[in-house]
Amino acid sequence: MALWGARFSSEADQRLQDFNSSIAIDSKMFEQDIKGSIAHVTMLAAQGIVDEESKDSIIENLTKIKEEIESGQLVIDPKAEDIHMFIEGELTKRTPAGKKLHTARSRNDQVAVDFKMYAMQRCDDLVTLLKEMIGVLIHQASQNLTTIMPGYTHLQRAQPITFAHHLMAYVEMFKRDCSRLEDAKKRANVCPLGSGALATTTYPIDRDYTAKLLGFDGPTLNSLDGVSDRDFAIEMVSAFSLCMMHLSRLCEEIILWCSWEFKFLELDDAFSTGSSIMPQKKNPDVAELVRGKTGRVYGNLNTLLAMLKNLPLAYNKDLQEDKEAFMDSADTLQACLVTMIPMCDSWKVNQENMENAAKRGFINATDCADYLTKKGMPFRDAYSTVGQLVKYCVDHQKDLSSLSLEEYQEASCLFEADVYEAIALQTCVFKRNAIGGPCPDRVKEHIESIKKELGL
Ligand code: ARG
Repeated sequence: MALWGARFSSEADQRLQDFNSSIAIDSKMFEQDIKGSIAHVTMLAAQGIVDEESKDSIIENLTKIKEEIESGQLVIDPKAEDIHMFIEGELTKRTPAGKKLHTARSRNDQVAVDFKMYAMQRCDDLVTLLKEMIGVLIHQASQNLTTIMPGYTHLQRAQPITFAHHLMAYVEMFKRDCSRLEDAKKRANVCPLGSGALATTTYPIDRDYTAKLLGFDGPTLNSLDGVSDRDFAIEMVSAFSLCMMHLSRLCEEIILWCSWEFKFLELDDAFSTGSSIMPQKKNPDVAELVRGKTGRVYGNLNTLLAMLKNLPLAYNKDLQEDKEAFMDSADTLQACLVTMIPMCDSWKVNQENMENAAKRGFINATDCADYLTKKGMPFRDAYSTVGQLVKYCVDHQKDLSSLSLEEYQEASCLFEADVYEAIALQTCVFKRNAIGGPCPDRVKEHIESIKKELGL
């Protein structure tokens, strides 16, 4: 008979038990469940609600259960209803004091606190990985401060930048991802334990103490909200989704850069795959999988939002679905980062192809117009003069650097021999030295400031 079965006259149907069980998912929270129980019983004893001897026996046995699960000596029963029932059942088998643990507590506040602690830990681990990713990108950027490449808009060559500048854009995104996770954690940092089933308890519990023992900033301030709030999970999965979107955008570029059409990058053999039929193929499967898995995390976010949309207060069993969506998202993001970090650390940059690509496509046309503007021509006139020059080049299969000075002067008498220097790719990049620009000195400063900020 289940722990809650006293008012029933028959055993639960096996099909209900299978359907109702969440052990396959929530067994991952055994550590948090035990930690929460130890804090709870410590508070109960301090308040004189349970005796010291029972408390000591409960803590001793819970600690042993934790060690045995960790070492594999105790196998979590896959048929148990959930991790809370399994651990309480196991404890009660070992000590009669185990029966006192659930005093002044419900599984509703128990699962809320376990899940919160678990989710906050996953955020910490993901922030650590994100910082590793940032470290790798910064390293790659510092090796490519002067590697010129085309910058694109509409996937058309637009203005010259450097590979370092391009990578540092992703560093900014991942930094925001870290701060979103840390921010979500700050709001999550209140302890629901003590909310009871929904309305706290008549025992003289000390919620401040329990919160303190578990490392929370304080207790939640409304018990209905305490047991039914899953905002923290939604906020975190939303931050995971954004982070996946950033990884996916980077992956999309990696896929393009590895194509024969670009050939800007070559992935290390250890992070590439082949084809079963085409012997020449070297495929960026990792990048494609990350792109594909992004949809899966978005799906989980939608699962959580939809699950909560019409849920009346307080606890409803629908909430049991929260952990699978959260864990799958955290696992997915973690797996993507774990694989992408070494992939990005080991790719080979084809600096020559990047620079050659930047030489074509009139990427310096803006600089040519700026040249005229600096000589006194209003920008709109300069824009149209250079537009005509580009048309002339297209018609005569030339580019701006191969036009003769005579050809330039036919377009405008303001052109002089220094135009060639002004439209050289190096000049175009080095002169873009406003804050946030591709000028190598600026990018170097950016790298240094992030290294300092993140202690890298
Ligand atoms: N396994 C449940 C969950 O994950 C635990 C809470 C059960 N509470 C209850 N009243 N049935 O949500």
